[in-house]
Amino acid sequence: MLKKRDLSIDSEMKNNMLPDLDRSLRIAIDGPAGAGKSTVAREVARRLNVKYLDTGAMYRAVTLKLLQKGIAPSALPQIERILQQTVLEVKNGQKVFLDGVDVSDEIRQPYVNNLVSQVAAIPLVRSMMVKMQQAIAANSSGIVMDGRDIASRVMPNADYKFFLAAALPERARRRRKEQLERGLELSLESVIAEITERDRIDSQRSDSPLVVDPEAIVIDTTAMSFEAVVERILEIVRAGPNIPLQ
Ligand code: CDP
Repeated sequence: MLKKRDLSIDSEMKNNMLPDLDRSLRIAIDGPAGAGKSTVAREVARRLNVKYLDTGAMYRAVTLKLLQKGIAPSALPQIERILQQTVLEVKNGQKVFLDGVDVSDEIRQPYVNNLVSQVAAIPLVRSMMVKMQQAIAANSSGIVMDGRDIASRVMPNADYKFFLAAALPERARRRRKEQLERGLELSLESVIAEITERDRIDSQRSDSPLVVDPEAIVIDTTAMSFEAVVERILEIVRAGPNIPLQ
């Protein structure tokens, strides 16, 4: 029996009054690299007092493991074996632990960026990640998940589906700024090249490619502030579900 959300618990929730849902709230946020999904999704989850899951971090962690073991994305039997021996944990939705070690910073390094889309295109890797993501969603009383295939595959019955888009130069500018804040100075050209290549592989793979789900609300964030994007999403969520509850 699914429970109604308890809307009476804290004052922040009162400011973010939600429609009375008879099952837990699930929000999917997809989009290309650097569209601001993770920062926006994390803040939306915080404001709604629900869980957040950064699914990209999971593909990044698997990629790091293959790099550590020197396994190429083409070595499928080896990948299967190594993944069966790997403990992947996501804490607080975004802290990622590989075999007990916090790799949250390392998975953002350029050598992971350059391989992650090839690893994420492997159907075996995808089915393992999707199973974990669906289990996390099933065990939460509400969740915001961001990625590439959340609306189309991981949570096809999500209450709200958003697709965040932004022009390539703006996405590259934001990603470069983020990297600078982490102490990594990259040229704008190299960031443009990296995210263009990732978008190409992510959109062209045969297993759950990056697509705009027909039910998704597209928000072009090019000229919008972070706060404006968060507010737009919250406004839509507060207005009530766009997908009939089952
Ligand atoms: O933050 P950014 O948009 O650059 O990437 P991310 O969300 O950390 O995802 C890294 C990569 O993981 C993507 O380029 C995809 O190849 C893959 N990914 C995926 O295939 N499916 C997801 N649900 C999430 C990420």
